[in-house]
Amino acid sequence: MKRISDQMEEMLNKQMTREAYQAQVYLSYGAWAESHSFQGIATFLYGHMQEEREHMFKILKYILDRGGEVKVEAIKAAPVHPKDIGECLNNILDHEIQNSKEIDKIVKLAHEESDWATFNFGQWFVKEQIEEETLINGVIDKYNLASNQIKDNHNLYDLDKDLATAPQEATTPREETI
Ligand code: FEO
Repeated sequence: MKRISDQMEEMLNKQMTREAYQAQVYLSYGAWAESHSFQGIATFLYGHMQEEREHMFKILKYILDRGGEVKVEAIKAAPVHPKDIGECLNNILDHEIQNSKEIDKIVKLAHEESDWATFNFGQWFVKEQIEEETLINGVIDKYNLASNQIKDNHNLYDLDKDLATAPQEATTPREETI
């Protein structure tokens, strides 16, 4: 028996496709970074592509768990190549912020429908989006520091090495201990 509304089923399906799109964005930018010899940045972006695919699958499983129907739809094309690392990172942050807004709509609808199961499910994504925005913002800060002092690309070289082993998660304030 289906335990989500038709509207929620549709929104979750659209979000599933949106997460697949997010994965394509990271894939495309990762390939662009690798083609420009930023192997560390590419590794970071490919790693995050995997995270987005997991998000997509998490939603798929949830729709099925609630007796809904999964609709695998066309994924729109990833954006064209950025002009430099700065544009690449800023575009990614924009995508994440947009995605957070879509997650918020799901949580809002769940609240309006008193669908507490989906409300609870949505909280995981709310937290994940806080982490992702923080993570990418932090990388942009590092990029700005590196590129502001640039003389011979040495700082960008260090940033690239740094990102090869950077975590895919950021710590959110609620997890901080003082
Ligand atoms: Fe799954 Fe980065 O949104």
